[in-house]
Amino acid sequence: MKNEMTLSFVAIEENEALARMAMTCFITPLDPTLEEISEFKTIVSEAVTNAIIHGYDCDGVSMVKIHAVIDDHKISMTVQDEGNGIFDVEQAMEPMFTTKPLMERSGMGFTIMESFSDHLSVESSIGNGTIVRFEKTFSPVSEVSRMR
Ligand SMILES: Nc1ncnc2c1ncn2[C@@H]1O[C@H](COP(=O)(O)OP(=O)(O)O)[C@@H](O)[C@H]1O
Ligand SMILES: [Mg+2]
Repeated sequence: MKNEMTLSFVAIEENEALARMAMTCFITPLDPTLEEISEFKTIVSEAVTNAIIHGYDCDGVSMVKIHAVIDDHKISMTVQDEGNGIFDVEQAMEPMFTTKPLMERSGMGFTIMESFSDHLSVESSIGNGTIVRFEKTFSPVSEVSRMR
């Protein structure tokens, strides 16, 4: 199966749920397992939350953009903001690193995204914004288990 979509929304925290649900609907035709759905939702949630909170400081006007392509059992997705950008991507991706400790951020977002995706890359520059790219391949469902 091939499919493609884009989704844009303003940077308010409520739109994390919109993105998570829309993206979950988008992968439903791939018959993901419950575990795969849960992992995928978590990746989307962490990436979108970062764009809203860190990229745009929840400004309510700037747009977060998601682009996703399904090719066979694989989804390739980008979550993009044109906001603050990341000073040092390598440091930002270290476990427990956060620039917002007062907001009780855990600093584990990138670590979690990396562990639940097959491939994750981050491109960012200060003042220009951030693009998070990831891929995840879902296990093909056999005809037998599909009929259960
Ligand atoms: N889209 C983004 N724009 C600007 N900075 C970001 C973005 N995403 C992540 N960061 C930076 O990377 C750090 C680590 O992100 P993450 O691992 O998700 O931890 P947390 O969100 O809990 O701080 C953030 O504290 C922030 O400084
Ligand atoms: Mg985060």
